[in-house]
Amino acid sequence: MDGNRRWADQKKILRLQGHQEGVKSLKRLVRHVGALGLDYLTVYAFSSENWQRSNDEVSYLMELFGRVLAEELRELAENKVRLRFIGALDKMPANLRKTIDKAMETTAHNTGLKLQVAINYGSRLELTQAMRKIAERVARGELKPDDIDEGLISDSLYTCGMPDPELLIRTGGEMRLSNYLLWQQAYTELYVTPVLWPDFGPEHFDQAINEFVGRQRRWGGD
Ligand code: FPP
Repeated sequence: MDGNRRWADQKKILRLQGHQEGVKSLKRLVRHVGALGLDYLTVYAFSSENWQRSNDEVSYLMELFGRVLAEELRELAENKVRLRFIGALDKMPANLRKTIDKAMETTAHNTGLKLQVAINYGSRLELTQAMRKIAERVARGELKPDDIDEGLISDSLYTCGMPDPELLIRTGGEMRLSNYLLWQQAYTELYVTPVLWPDFGPEHFDQAINEFVGRQRRWGGD
């Protein structure tokens, strides 16, 4: 969900307002994706590198995440959305962590859209932690090095049990993966649009899907 601050800069308004508009864009998209009947949507809300932003912006974002989550939980639950947060959640502020845990518990048995929010997420950290977990199991004698396969690695990631993404949509025009789901996106189709996140609406999502369905997907074969 890239481009909130550039959107605000273009409008000569406070950058924090860009994030507020970003929330509106996210709500619109979740409703749209739910109505289309898609099974999974994962959004990148805060990267492990985003802590390097100013204290004011970081505190604002933490407060915004908690507030939006508390305000939206009822509607999400009523619409059978199942929420899951992926990332180093133990490093999140304690009150936000509580709200996150509550949101995951409340929606755990929902059968509709599985909405995953990557927060304090970094793919290299995720892989490092997974490798450490596996190494510990080998050291304890529970596993042999030969038991380590792609399935075990996938199951050791935050995204355990979730299928690999089919399509990545990056708004804001940057041609990078930015430490996002590096293992999981080995065969993901990439779609980069210059549209800034607050302007990204259902029509842009549909354009991305239309392009995606017209592509011939390859998994390294013919
Ligand atoms: C990236 O744009 C956006 C963020 C770091 C924050 C994204 C958060 C939201 C859209 C709110 C979502 C709310 C919930 C509850 C998940 P940027 O700030 O990097 O903008 P730039 O690329 O123009 O600098």
